[in-house]
Amino acid sequence: MMIKTEKLTYTYSQGTPFEKTAVNGVDLEIEEGTLVGIIGHTGSGKSTLIQHFNGLIKPTSGKVFIDGEDIYDKSVNIRDVRFKVGLVFQYPEYQIFEETVFKDIAYGPKNMGLGEDEIKERVMQTAELLGISPELMERSPFELSGGQKRRVAIAGVMAMRPKVLILDEPTAGLDPKGRAMIFGQIRDYHEKSGSTVLVVSHSMEDVADFAQKILVMDHGKKFCYATPPEVFARAEEISAIGLSVPQVTKIFSLLREKGIDIRTDVYTVPFAVKTIKEYLEKEGQLP
Ligand SMILES: Nc1ncnc2c1ncn2[C@@H]1O[C@H](COP(=O)(O)OP(=O)(O)O)[C@@H](O)[C@H]1O
Ligand SMILES: [Mg+2]
Repeated sequence: MMIKTEKLTYTYSQGTPFEKTAVNGVDLEIEEGTLVGIIGHTGSGKSTLIQHFNGLIKPTSGKVFIDGEDIYDKSVNIRDVRFKVGLVFQYPEYQIFEETVFKDIAYGPKNMGLGEDEIKERVMQTAELLGISPELMERSPFELSGGQKRRVAIAGVMAMRPKVLILDEPTAGLDPKGRAMIFGQIRDYHEKSGSTVLVVSHSMEDVADFAQKILVMDHGKKFCYATPPEVFARAEEISAIGLSVPQVTKIFSLLREKGIDIRTDVYTVPFAVKTIKEYLEKEGQLP
C-alpha cells in the first residue's frame, strides 16, 4: 500500500475554546500508482488530511504509513519523506522566489543533491510536460502570466519525481481553459511516471473525468473511497451531504425518476452518449 492511514485524527487548537477536529478517524488505503481525486465541501478536512502525508503536520492520534513505513516513527527521517511525497499547495505561485524559471523548477531537485546534468534533464523534461517553453527558462517567473506561474510551481515539485505527488486544488482561480490544461498535464504526468497522484478539487465534474478512485470527505470523515461509477451510483447521498454531482449524472437520475429504465452511474459526456444510444437501440428507437 502506498498510503495507509489508521484512525487518523487531527484537532486544531486542542484544549482551547477554538478546538476544531478537522480530520476524524480516517482509515484509508491507497494503492501504488492510483490517480485519486479528493473532494468534499470547504472545511471538510481535505487540506488537513493531505498535509499528514508528507509529514507537514503530525496526527493528534492515529497513524500514517507511506510505502509501509510509519512516517511519524522516531526512526524515520522526515526529510526523506518530503522527497518521497511531493506536495503542491493551493496557489503555489505565491511561493515562487527564484530569479529565473529554470532556477525555480530546479530548486527541489538541487536540494535532493542531484548532479547538474540530472537536474537540467529533469527541469527541461518537466517544463516540456507542463507546456513551459524553453525560451521562458531564463526569464523571471514574476513576468509570467498567472497560469504560467502556476505551472512553473507545479513543475518544481514534479521535477523531484516523488513516488507520491499531491496537489491541493491545482486549478483554483483559473479559467476553464487553464483548468483543462492543468488537469490534462497531471494526467500525462501520472501516465508517464506511473506514480501515485492525489488531486484535491471541489469540482466533482473535473474529478469524475480523470480519477481512478475518488475520496469523498465530509465533516472530517471519510464518506467513501471508491471508483467513479461506485461513487456516482450514490448520487442522492452525495447530494445530501451538499456536494453536487456532475450535471450529466443528474440528468440520468431525472430520467430514471421519470420512469425510464436507464443506468444512473453515468458521469462523463462520452459515456452519456454511449448509454443513450444503447438505450435507444434497446427500445428499437434508433434509426
Ligand atoms: N490553521 C487552522 N487553525 C484552526 N482551524 C483550522 C486551521 N486550518 C483549518 N482549520 C479548520 O479545519 C477544518 C478543515 O479545514 P481544511 O482542512 O482546510 O478543509 P478543506 O481543505 O476541505 O477546505 C475547517 O473547519 C477549518 O476551519
Ligand atoms: Mg483546502
